[in-house]
Amino acid sequence: MTTSHAAEEASTSESHYVDHENPIIGLHNCKLIQQGAEARVWEGVYLGKPAVLKQRFSKRYRHPSLDARLTQTRLKQEVRSMLRARKLGVLTPCVLCVEHEASTIYFERVEGVSVKQALSSGALQPAAQLELLRAIGSAIAALHDGGVIHGDLTTSNLLVRAADNALVVIDFGLSSNSSIAEDKAVDLYVLERAFTSAHASCGPLFEDVLASYRQHSRLWCPTLNKFAEVRMRGRKRAMVG
Ligand SMILES: Nc1ncnc2c1ncn2[C@@H]1O[C@H](COP(=O)(O)OP(=O)(O)O)[C@@H](O)[C@H]1O
Ligand SMILES: [Mg+2]
Repeated sequence: MTTSHAAEEASTSESHYVDHENPIIGLHNCKLIQQGAEARVWEGVYLGKPAVLKQRFSKRYRHPSLDARLTQTRLKQEVRSMLRARKLGVLTPCVLCVEHEASTIYFERVEGVSVKQALSSGALQPAAQLELLRAIGSAIAALHDGGVIHGDLTTSNLLVRAADNALVVIDFGLSSNSSIAEDKAVDLYVLERAFTSAHASCGPLFEDVLASYRQHSRLWCPTLNKFAEVRMRGRKRAMVG
């Protein structure tokens, strides 16, 4: 659906959400769930399905043409990488619709909690927690072996689907394609930092993620060697301040 079609529909339907600052959004019963630095995320109902809508907005400090190009590049990369991830056997939400003009993507809504919430709640049994950490390691291994770098691996960008406790990976807006060990190592390091900052009290959880990565990635050796270097650089930087 193009933006103008959405606009026409919205003007005839009371239940459509209308944001006067932004293009009209074809999402029913919608609620803003996240206002980030680059995008706003709403949840609602799209074509009768529980959906999430992500809209990138322009950054005033960026030159308008550079801004438009960057927004379009991130949008395309997000959709492409999600499809690639699925082909590699990594669960990601279905993409329901992309509106380039409005810089929006409609996703299937995954009912469940983020890994951040799951780990912080303390509600997970040790076996379920280990299974989750191992699922994270194997999902990243599959992405990396397929040349997909996520670019923003945090425990908020990993969801646990309520129906079957499956791991679903989201937020590929900063993803890239690379088979270079350094890029994979940095991806892992970003996730390690997320674990140490958000889940320090839960013990050395990331070690289980790494063990599973090592078990599942064909190319674990160069990646984990680089990872040790990246970690060392990070520690030195932290000491120097
Ligand atoms: N498909 C989805 N199903 C359920 N929740 C989602 C989905 N996509 C995003 N979310 C929720 O919205 C939040 C923000 O979405 P995300 O794509 O990570 O945007 P941002 O780039 O702003 O971090 C996520 O952390 C998650 O809680
Ligand atoms: Mg995110």
